[in-house]
Amino acid sequence: MNLSETLWRQILALRSAARADQGDQTVLCLTDAGFQYYEPNSLPADAQAVVSRTPLTTAAMPAARLLDSGLYLSTSPSLDRTREHALRLYLPIALADWRPQSETLVLVHMAQSLDGRVATVAGHSQWIGNTENLHHAHRLRALVDGVLVGGNTARCDKPRLDVRHVDGDNPARIILSNHVSDLTCLPRVEGMRTLIVCSDDEGLPSERGDFELVRCKRVGGILDVSALLEHLQDLGIRSLLVEGGPKTFQTFQQAGAIDWLQVHIAPMLFGSGNPLLDLPQITTVDDAIALRDTFYTVMGDAVMMTGRLR
Ligand SMILES: NC(=O)c1ccc[n+]([C@@H]2O[C@H](COP(=O)([O-])OP(=O)(O)OC[C@H]3O[C@@H](n4cnc5c(N)ncnc54)[C@H](OP(=O)(O)O)[C@@H]3O)[C@@H](O)[C@H]2O)c1
Repeated sequence: MNLSETLWRQILALRSAARADQGDQTVLCLTDAGFQYYEPNSLPADAQAVVSRTPLTTAAMPAARLLDSGLYLSTSPSLDRTREHALRLYLPIALADWRPQSETLVLVHMAQSLDGRVATVAGHSQWIGNTENLHHAHRLRALVDGVLVGGNTARCDKPRLDVRHVDGDNPARIILSNHVSDLTCLPRVEGMRTLIVCSDDEGLPSERGDFELVRCKRVGGILDVSALLEHLQDLGIRSLLVEGGPKTFQTFQQAGAIDWLQVHIAPMLFGSGNPLLDLPQITTVDDAIALRDTFYTVMGDAVMMTGRLR
């Protein structure tokens, strides 16, 4: 999905404003001048889109709920479909600071083959997603406070996790790993905060001055996700993008901590490899985890499915 630079700058400006006001004012309108606050009963005639906490429906602009974000979006028939889609996709994340203080927004974004593989058996996954997906991933990074991957992804892919392909600030880079000395392979990114989340019962030396160690308890060797989210809140991280891999996705999924899941589905077949999820077997289709409020986005020659997991 291609997005105009103007609309992207308007969304970034909105994200900064939402950080500062945390939702004290509740009706935002998009006009040619960008997003501005208005009283619900004095909306501008040239409004292209209206974001509100209660459904503000007019004959010309029916309101639709934006996932489970507690926000409603009304769009003018004159707004083109790409811009409307971009608002639907990015506004709930840009306005994450409007959520109650104690809630962290958790979004998972991963790319898979048509047959559900996210890496080859050898651990190779670059690039399953196409260029549009890469730009989308960088927009997501620019909208969240932190981007998290598991230790295996850190070791296999050595990701920078910064924002390079679009305008925007870098989030904090967060790695779940008890093997801090193995993470020296991670590239340094100037000015980017790197947090290594490790268990609180082991003394782990860090050879890297740019790593901050965050101690977080594990229960039976498994990370306590709600304790982690609380720690991250204390560090100012209230919106989190989980970029994988599957074990890390599974950890958040089994803890019931994921708000939204986005899966980029690439037109390729692996026939083998690492699946997106590897859960205990289910017997009937009724036992599947069903996403809610789903929609899809065309990404060049691929599609991306978005939906709520809770
Ligand atoms: N297609 C995609 O979108 C995509 C995205 C990301 C990654 N990948 C691919 O996925 C593969 C790696 O995935 P993976 O599933 O093997 O590993 P992973 O999720 O990247 O990392 C797993 C590691 O993270 C830490 N960890 C995760 N959950 C934990 C928990 N509940 N408790 C304690 N530690 C936990 C542990 O680190 P330590 O062992 O270090 O303690 C664990 O070994 C790579 O091949 C990568 O290229 C694909």
